[in-house]
Amino acid sequence: MAIRTIRIMGDECLKKKCKSVREVTPRVRELIEDMYETMYEARGVGLAAPQVGILKRIVVIDVMDGNPLTLINPEIIYRGGEQTDEEGCLSVPGKCALVTRPMYVHCRAFNENMEEFVVEAEGLLARAICHELDHLDGILYPEKALEEPHDVEEE
Ligand code: NI
Repeated sequence: MAIRTIRIMGDECLKKKCKSVREVTPRVRELIEDMYETMYEARGVGLAAPQVGILKRIVVIDVMDGNPLTLINPEIIYRGGEQTDEEGCLSVPGKCALVTRPMYVHCRAFNENMEEFVVEAEGLLARAICHELDHLDGILYPEKALEEPHDVEEE
């Protein structure tokens, strides 16, 4: 496993639409392992492959609920409700801003064995899924924020 370099806003990789994964090759498995390691090291709750420069539809999420989630070719099939809260991104370091997202989402995806599954999420997990899936279409949260991103207050 290895920690990969996180691309920062302005990097072309973060503006691209990513390609679907056809097969989980050893290379893809290694990428996923590296994405977890990179996310944990940066103390993030989610990371999308384009954030480490790979234009594939792969996301890892861990909202510290004891349930790390690997999403390959994910698609949101249901959205409901609304939540507005501060959001940050490892590609926009030290900043955050208010973003409105659905309170509930159902997301269909494939796991590392290319088995299809559906995750029903609410709250922070729903927010994380929406945020990370946006990355796969080249969208960063400042485009959707209700305000200019501002510095995270140090405590
Ligand atoms: Ni992000």
